[in-house]
Amino acid sequence: MTARASLVVAPEPTRGQVPELRRAEPCTLIIFGAGDLLHRKLMPSLFHLMGDGLLADEFAVITVARERQDDASFRTQVQSSLRTFAPDGAALDQRAWSRFAERLHYVAGELNDPATYAALRQRMTEADANLPAGGGHLFYLAIPPSLYADTIARLSDSGIAPRVPDPLTRPWVRIIIEKPFGRSLESARALNGCVRRAFAEHQVYRIDHYLGKETVQNLLVFRFANSIFEPVWNRQHVHHVQITAAESVGVEHRGKYYEEAGVVRDMFQNHLLQLLTLMAMEPPVTFSADAVRDEKVKALRAIRPITPAVMHDYSVRGQYGPGVINGKPVPGYREEPDVAPDSATPTYCAIRFMIDNWRWQDVPFYLRSGKRMPRRATEIAIQFRKPPHLMFPLPEGQTIEANTLGIRVQPKEGISLRFEVKVPGIEVKMASVDMDFGYAAAFGDQDHDAYETLLLDCMLGEATLFTRSDEVEAAWSVVDPIIDFWANKRPDHFPNYAAGTWGPAVADEFIAREGAKWREP
Ligand code: BG6
Repeated sequence: MTARASLVVAPEPTRGQVPELRRAEPCTLIIFGAGDLLHRKLMPSLFHLMGDGLLADEFAVITVARERQDDASFRTQVQSSLRTFAPDGAALDQRAWSRFAERLHYVAGELNDPATYAALRQRMTEADANLPAGGGHLFYLAIPPSLYADTIARLSDSGIAPRVPDPLTRPWVRIIIEKPFGRSLESARALNGCVRRAFAEHQVYRIDHYLGKETVQNLLVFRFANSIFEPVWNRQHVHHVQITAAESVGVEHRGKYYEEAGVVRDMFQNHLLQLLTLMAMEPPVTFSADAVRDEKVKALRAIRPITPAVMHDYSVRGQYGPGVINGKPVPGYREEPDVAPDSATPTYCAIRFMIDNWRWQDVPFYLRSGKRMPRRATEIAIQFRKPPHLMFPLPEGQTIEANTLGIRVQPKEGISLRFEVKVPGIEVKMASVDMDFGYAAAFGDQDHDAYETLLLDCMLGEATLFTRSDEVEAAWSVVDPIIDFWANKRPDHFPNYAAGTWGPAVADEFIAREGAKWREP
């Protein structure tokens, strides 16, 4: 039985003592594509950044997309999406909106048409009239990945986005590339090659939005700004690590994309492996982009390759069938729009990774992710070893619970430590309790999106939270064999878990064989 003791941590230092946030450098942001990402994430984030005074006065956005429309009609579209997607957008303050709207410009055109780039150049020249000497141009590819290579080449060939070898050169030129970055090691290499022909690496910001999440950034602070965890962060003390990213949503309107991707490309290659590297990496020497990313790459390279011979011991896959979530019936994956009725695409996967280095030898890292699970929860759990000898008698058949450090990435962000205590009374009886730190209780509700952090970082030239070319390739090397293996072996057992459950029974058997069990987030 588990009792729950709550420890509310006072927020120290208080807001007033926090060093002032740096404002973005003056820039023109050129966004290619005006789809979901622009309306749901980018515009609300920019609007909030401006509201918080974090954008420079000389800031402008030029959106380039196919729809034939002018600035005015684009602004109306953005206003309506802010009402829907900015948490406080419903009551859009008219003055704030006007200040924001006058910075929004629109260029209509096809991305494979040189005339589009000529029109863009013209707009950029007008916007540059306000740009001070220290400013720059930030390009954002919010377009289908199949268009990345061609658009990058055109931007470069037209001279609109030149290579800038020295990071200190002004005006600066940077480019943000959304995930997925390739769909295999080979295609990621090809795309990196194309990026490299156009830009220097310091100009390139590959986004993984997980890295912009508050709790993910906190992993570095938690590990390296405290001295009490590092001594136990190793094979002597850790029995295993579990990383879970569960989603209650299905594939929604993204059936076409998801059929091509599947859960390993969609969640493991990027988000889950990022969490793993932050947990497993060695302490970087400085908090600088390259020092941090060097350590992450080393951790990725130390992951033991999963060969076909051991694949069944290292991974299981699943696909959801119809079920019930929050009391409502939901369709199975094969009944979703744009999904083949006999689809073999996995929507769930659990993988055991072993890290072959001095710190982690023999410590399994179990990663799992699935759509249509009972609830949305991303969590990391470090299960420590049990005491080597227990001097307290336990009732017949009972074993002691291991100490567990649980890091709730989302929602209810926080950290808890489970340990054993004596139950008050004459007898010596034990119970597990949780000492819990919750972000909301300590610091109040955080309402800023990961994209706010990431956009601001790009405008400041801060690349720590972005994936470097070797990192992205190392992550593909880890998952490629798994994707290939499963792609060549059609599952005859799909669907194998009902929507609203914690995944297929084989996933429970898989971890039970290892003497562990999934922790319910
Ligand atoms: C995206 C995936 O990268 O991350 C989606 O493509 C997934 O399928 C999403 O739903 C999860 O992100 P978050 O921030 O909601 O955990």
